[in-house]
Amino acid sequence: KLQSIDVSQLQIQKSTTPKDVMPHDQLVFGRTFTDHMLSIEWTAGDGWLAPRITPYQNLSLDPATCALHYAFEAFEGMKAYKDRNGDVRLFRPDMNMKRLNKSVSRIALPTFDGDAFIDLLKRFCKIEERFIPSARGYSLYIRPNMIGTQRTLGVGPPGSALLYVIASPVGPYYPTGFKAISLEATTYAIRAWPGGVGASKLGANYAPCIVPQMQAATRGFHQNLWLFPGVDERTGQQEDFVTEVGTMNLFACIRSPQGKPELVTAPLDGTILEGVVRDSILALARERLVPEGWTVSERPFTMRELTEASSEGRLMEVFGSGTAAVVSPVRNIGYQGKIIECGLPPDKEVGEVTLRMLDWITGIQYGDETHEWSVKV
Ligand code: COI
Repeated sequence: KLQSIDVSQLQIQKSTTPKDVMPHDQLVFGRTFTDHMLSIEWTAGDGWLAPRITPYQNLSLDPATCALHYAFEAFEGMKAYKDRNGDVRLFRPDMNMKRLNKSVSRIALPTFDGDAFIDLLKRFCKIEERFIPSARGYSLYIRPNMIGTQRTLGVGPPGSALLYVIASPVGPYYPTGFKAISLEATTYAIRAWPGGVGASKLGANYAPCIVPQMQAATRGFHQNLWLFPGVDERTGQQEDFVTEVGTMNLFACIRSPQGKPELVTAPLDGTILEGVVRDSILALARERLVPEGWTVSERPFTMRELTEASSEGRLMEVFGSGTAAVVSPVRNIGYQGKIIECGLPPDKEVGEVTLRMLDWITGIQYGDETHEWSVKV
């Protein structure tokens, strides 16, 4: 059962030193923050205490705080958008609440009533409204974070926790327009495995991803591609299954030898982060691409399949998806010393399906298309 939060107890302390709003073109992802933060403390005895909106400030934590030692930490990424009427909108916030509750319950942190938390987020967004850029491609990135705060070196369920939210005005992920990225398939490290916690948005899943990313960068690749080695049940062959790219989900558009186009992404088998944009792409593809003759699949797929499709001219597009970038086109993949081209002509940075997905999703996020996913604040 989700533990309740009493929104009516919200205490608001406004900042007396409001910051200047940075000009759009100077925004760097996650570097500048708004004036305030939202915090709710929890104790095992009393549950969630009164929520507070206060000036953005340092946390004061005992050096023995369990989050700092044993990674009792889970987070979310979501955005607030300003629509053309000046109203503020969230995108599928219920999905973030569900996912955060799933993440925190896996690491013995307390659950919370997501609807109450969305109410608080709306209050917070209203207060920070002036920081939300209205230009298309700009938004306020919202970072809910929960940490275990008990001061103990004993390894056990935290007896206290802090759920807090900070927010950062952000520009488009690619300020100069789309640039297709190159990926290096990582064959020496694995991000997630069956029975593990790869589906949860835990900080502990992210820190170990940086070294493979740095390694890929030394060889000129923008990001790494995460694989999972295993046996293909249909063939009995050892394969490298394609899972995710960097910190994003991955989609491929593959034409079958018979000529039927398929949009494919790895299934939610516990090793795949349950992306909100991933889910939205699948739903929109089922609604809008299937009538055009597409197949939409959540199924295991392999580097062998991508390699064959590429060499036979059937690999149409590959792209990453996430809240930060929405979609991110992929030009090629380095794998076992070879470069696999992903269907983009040399003079193009983004494929047709990738671009349509971007237009559809941002159209909903900014309220240009009326849709139940867009929630007015
Ligand atoms: C994403 O939105 O794609 C992310 O994974 C966010 C990142 C800053 C952790």
